[in-house]
Amino acid sequence: MDPRLIAQAAALLRAGELVAFPTETVYGLGASALDASAVERIFAVKGRPATSPLIVHAADAAMAQSLALAWPPSAAALAARFWPGPLTLVVPKRSLICGRVTAGLPTVGLRVPRHPVALALLREAGIPVAAPSANPFTGLSPTTADHVRASLGARVALVLDGGPCSVGIESTVVSLAGPEPLLLRPGMISVEELEAVIGPIRPAPLAPPEDAHAAPGMHPRHYSPRTPLRLAGRNDLPDEGRGAYLYWSEPSPRHSSIAMPAEPAQYAARLYGALHELDRQGWDWIAVEPPPVNAAWLAVRDRLTRAAAQP
Ligand code: TXA
Ligand code: MG
Repeated sequence: MDPRLIAQAAALLRAGELVAFPTETVYGLGASALDASAVERIFAVKGRPATSPLIVHAADAAMAQSLALAWPPSAAALAARFWPGPLTLVVPKRSLICGRVTAGLPTVGLRVPRHPVALALLREAGIPVAAPSANPFTGLSPTTADHVRASLGARVALVLDGGPCSVGIESTVVSLAGPEPLLLRPGMISVEELEAVIGPIRPAPLAPPEDAHAAPGMHPRHYSPRTPLRLAGRNDLPDEGRGAYLYWSEPSPRHSSIAMPAEPAQYAARLYGALHELDRQGWDWIAVEPPPVNAAWLAVRDRLTRAAAQP
């Protein structure tokens, strides 16, 4: 990418503007994590409730650590093994991260992304950047710059185009702020990989929406296309309306069927792009073949279950 574009984006961030940028997971809607009014605008543009904390992105582990009040050995170990990469660590925050970023929580989610454009931007800006996924609240996350332009384009100062995201679903989120490590959001870095480094991690319970603050980001409905989506096998597809069937094993002879990879990392990389595309095509419903029930598919199952939840 043209270094002048990175310099321009970094200057916009330092000046309190919003910049959308690619990461290896999904595109982020970035603002300076040190500027409360810039952060305020992220919530306004996304229509996101103020009770939902944002992830803060840093250029390297040293910058991330400088934002934390405590940096337990488990944080150091996970950062050394998985950063830069699709892992967010929740730790106690220092006061320079404004409370607006963390929805008033005393903790902050920190991540060093692996995408070269994100890293170049973070290095050039020299500040921590708060960035949720660059989509309207509860909507589908963007995995291309076109997805961002289509939904939020007019409301951000600049959209950096770094091509399609390689991981395709949001980072794994682990809290290290309590007495024991907690999985707050599954992702493509698996629990097994994390446990190999720091030992047992407890799964967080699914919180009801009214309890969103206690377990932010655990809303049952999230990541949803506009078209009604259900999880169903090819023998359980609706008879009414025109629908599309997303399958990984066998197509349905009676419906428009779209093949997905049968391997979880490749499936994840394709998932949001496929759903964005089907949304654009205007079907009455989307049916998605339930993925296998095993650890490798946990994160994909989590996103599909939330995408299928009723509003
Ligand atoms: O892959 C990703 O993580 C993407 C890219 C842009 O980095 N970002 C992303 O951000 O997915 P967002 O805002 O859509 O998701 C933030 C989630 C929250 O919903 C919550 O689950 C968790 O991160 N989180 C952030 N800060 C937290 C905190 N202080 N305590 C608990 N959970 C937190
Ligand atoms: Mg999001």
